[in-house]
Amino acid sequence: MSERSVNEQLRGLRQQARLGGGAKRIEAQHGKGKLTARERVELLLDPGSFEELDLLVEHRCTDFGMESKHFAGDGVVAGYGTVGGRMIFVFAQDFTVLGGSLSETHAAKICKVQDMAAKMGCPIIGLNDSGGARIQEGVAALGGYADIFLRNTMASGLVPQLTGIMGPCAGGAVYSPALTDFIVMVENSSYMFITGPKVVKTVLNEVVSSEQLGGAVAHATRSGVAHFTAPGDGQAIALLRQLLSYMPQNNMEDPPVVPTDDPPDRADASLDTVVPEDPNLPYDIRLVIGSVADRGSFLEVQAAWAPNIVVGFARLDGRSVGIIANQPQHLAGVLDIKASIKAARFIRFCDAFNIPLLTFVDVPGFLPGTAQEHGGIILHGAKLIYAYSEATVPKVTVITRKAYGGAYCVMSSKHLRGDVNLAWPTAEIAVMGPKGAVEIVFRNELKAADDMATRQAELEQDYKDKFANPYVAARRGYVDDVIQPRSTRRAVIRALRMLATKKDTNPVKKHGNIPL
Ligand code: HXC
Repeated sequence: MSERSVNEQLRGLRQQARLGGGAKRIEAQHGKGKLTARERVELLLDPGSFEELDLLVEHRCTDFGMESKHFAGDGVVAGYGTVGGRMIFVFAQDFTVLGGSLSETHAAKICKVQDMAAKMGCPIIGLNDSGGARIQEGVAALGGYADIFLRNTMASGLVPQLTGIMGPCAGGAVYSPALTDFIVMVENSSYMFITGPKVVKTVLNEVVSSEQLGGAVAHATRSGVAHFTAPGDGQAIALLRQLLSYMPQNNMEDPPVVPTDDPPDRADASLDTVVPEDPNLPYDIRLVIGSVADRGSFLEVQAAWAPNIVVGFARLDGRSVGIIANQPQHLAGVLDIKASIKAARFIRFCDAFNIPLLTFVDVPGFLPGTAQEHGGIILHGAKLIYAYSEATVPKVTVITRKAYGGAYCVMSSKHLRGDVNLAWPTAEIAVMGPKGAVEIVFRNELKAADDMATRQAELEQDYKDKFANPYVAARRGYVDDVIQPRSTRRAVIRALRMLATKKDTNPVKKHGNIPL
């Protein structure tokens, strides 16, 4: 063959491969409002940076007529490129090829980029759009999934792993995404479930749609499986890019610094009055977060699940921080099972990837009741204690109002190795609120009182004077300083600058035993 025809042959092979399942199926994909795998990868990576691997890989199955169905690439686009100039690895399942189903070779392509991401110390993003295990391949496909799960686990805490669910994701296929750090789901065109509506109907006689069972809204509001939802492919991919910007390349590096023109000592007088005078009234802790963080830098994670605790990424002084904040606007900011799980997982991600923790505390305690007790609040609340205790990244805490009972201990207290613990003058740090405390401690005195209500009010006032303030804790050094709310940004940035060189370790062990 001449040099020209050799080149033409290669060009032809590539062109054919890039068409995936062909023009008709691409049209069908677009008809559903979805992008193709290749279009998604192009959108995710910096323009022109994508280098594809295994474009010419084909399956080796010869059963069920598969010997005559060959598609170069075998239903997944894989390779590397940059996001914001930083190297990442990526794979995107191609629904136009046999429904994006996962064969042995399709799995091997994913494993290859997983191995490379781990070896090179780069994040990996998976874009899922697949009918699951390729039925014609049987156990070879199942083995492929298990190979991927193992690599997800080995890469956990080593490099950030992000997932976009952009179509079907069913059966055990959901477990690779679940093993990654963050999941973004596209609304109305993606779903995740272990068993689909048909099986649910057969086994339980329950009628449910795919969307109700495992759509983006279901997983963002009910199960907590999805961390974000987006109205379309483009927005989901933009979110993934944004999310990466807060993260380092791997566990040995620091997150990138994003210069800001927001002054580090910017005071905000509105914070002086954000906490209502009546301690029973709510306020939105996101106002505090928005004010303290670099302007516009806060990205809330799992906003629609367990809203009684707010978690998310922000920047202070251009540097990434993970924010955990009780939200008085929902259930008075109480800690319950979901809130504990949500915050614990987020804290562990930040700790694994050298992202300092900033905690805002306004918590009346743990939610009482049989639903919580029988649901295992003891076990799940312990996750939060464990996560804060083992975290060795810089930990800065600001108590804005209530820090009652066990929740005081849990929320990044000094006793769990909080580095800099600050309190606003409105802080109330005590075993419990004044009413409950007086009713227990002075039960007999109250019974004997001529005017029970007046006596109770007096005792509550005494209790407030003694405990419902930050000064008892400050005298013991449990809070390092009581600050004016308006100067919180300045105080936190100064603390984080001081903590930038922090080194702390945990005892050497195989691994701990977090109360799962
Ligand atoms: C082989 C598959 C496939 C699969 C889809 N296709 N899923 N081929 N293995 N798992 C093929 C279809 O035959 C079809 O090919 C093409 O992909 C497009 O599929 P359609 O059904 O036409 O598309 P749509 O109507 O959009 O429906 C998509 C779907 C449906 C909902 C995903 O295809 C479906 O229910 N698939 C099976 C899902 C499933 O049960 N998978 C196994 C899950 S269990 P043609 O050539 O006809 O157009 C699992 C185990 C993993 O994955 C365990 C890990 C531990």
